[in-house]
Amino acid sequence: MPGEFSGEFKSWLRKFPHRYAVTSGENLKDLKQVAGHFQKLSKLASELSPKTMTVVAVGGGSVGDFAGFFASVFKRGVRLVHVPSTWLAAVDSSHGGKTALNISGVKNQIGTFYPADKVLLVRSLLMGQPEIRVKDAMGELAKIALIDGGPWVRRLKRNSLVGSDLLWNFLKPAIQAKMKIVDQDPREKTGIRQVLNLGHTVGHVFETAYGWPHGQAVSQGLFFALEYSVADGALKSRDALEIYDLLEKKFSLAREWPHRPLSARRFSDLLLQDKKRSNGNQITFIFLSRIGKPMRRSVTVSNILREARRQGVVAK
Ligand SMILES: NC(=O)c1ccc[n+]([C@@H]2O[C@H](COP(=O)([O-])OP(=O)(O)OC[C@H]3O[C@@H](n4cnc5c(N)ncnc54)[C@H](O)[C@@H]3O)[C@@H](O)[C@H]2O)c1
Repeated sequence: MPGEFSGEFKSWLRKFPHRYAVTSGENLKDLKQVAGHFQKLSKLASELSPKTMTVVAVGGGSVGDFAGFFASVFKRGVRLVHVPSTWLAAVDSSHGGKTALNISGVKNQIGTFYPADKVLLVRSLLMGQPEIRVKDAMGELAKIALIDGGPWVRRLKRNSLVGSDLLWNFLKPAIQAKMKIVDQDPREKTGIRQVLNLGHTVGHVFETAYGWPHGQAVSQGLFFALEYSVADGALKSRDALEIYDLLEKKFSLAREWPHRPLSARRFSDLLLQDKKRSNGNQITFIFLSRIGKPMRRSVTVSNILREARRQGVVAK
């Protein structure tokens, strides 16, 4: 739980009869740690009826994933409310019902689909975040804008808002755009929902290999996917330049490749751990052919590896 809540928000928190503080981050989602937490939580909840009990998850995406998972399995499921405290959780992770835990450092290996009964967006809580958290969320906001391309994206391009103001003002249409896709494929059965993984395949490689925050890793994964889309012939160079301009001016995102390229072996291993692997050596990669037109395509690991070498992400 972050320690910088406003007085008003702190007094709201004090109204809850049972509170349980955790330290945010990937360790919280680690399967080994989870058992200890669940024992303490189940003790805390021992006198509560599962019929009336509600888990209120206050925190960033890691807290949401952890608490959402707990709510989904405790007594076979109790009520869940998300109060996202990071922009990334507000714009993305608290919506859509995915919960996730990590095994031995490999992200999101266990999870459930468990949409929250409510998601409360608290302006004062979100606006009080440091600049670094704003940066974390811009990749996910940019991602959903590129996938959806609806009228709100044209409004977003035209207005002069930036940073937290941009995020707050475009939270609602960005969430609606995500939910429009989730509702067509809530349990990722048909594959439609996979388009939300734009930027995530290589983003997750960066996140694990370099320990970058999820949001920043995803924005770099987005640059990789755009370059790959151009190289693949799906996206015209002219359109790509327009998108790069938008990413820089509106979302303050720039391509910042790691100084140290990965070895081919490390890159492939991390790619193959990705849960979006379709079968064997094939991975469903999300390309973009223009704003509002994502495309799912099955590609081989060696094809992505070749592209990663070309882009300088993997050592030549
Ligand atoms: N379930 C999903 O659909 C989904 C989608 C995207 C990401 N995720 C997951 O979300 C996680 C990333 O989320 P995140 O970026 O919110 O990270 P996080 O939960 O680790 O929080 C990042 C940091 O922000 C701090 N923080 C939280 N609220 C704050 C506040 N109001 N003010 C100041 N600091 C605050 C935390 O203490 C932490 O240090 C990853 O584990 C990722 O896998 C899940």
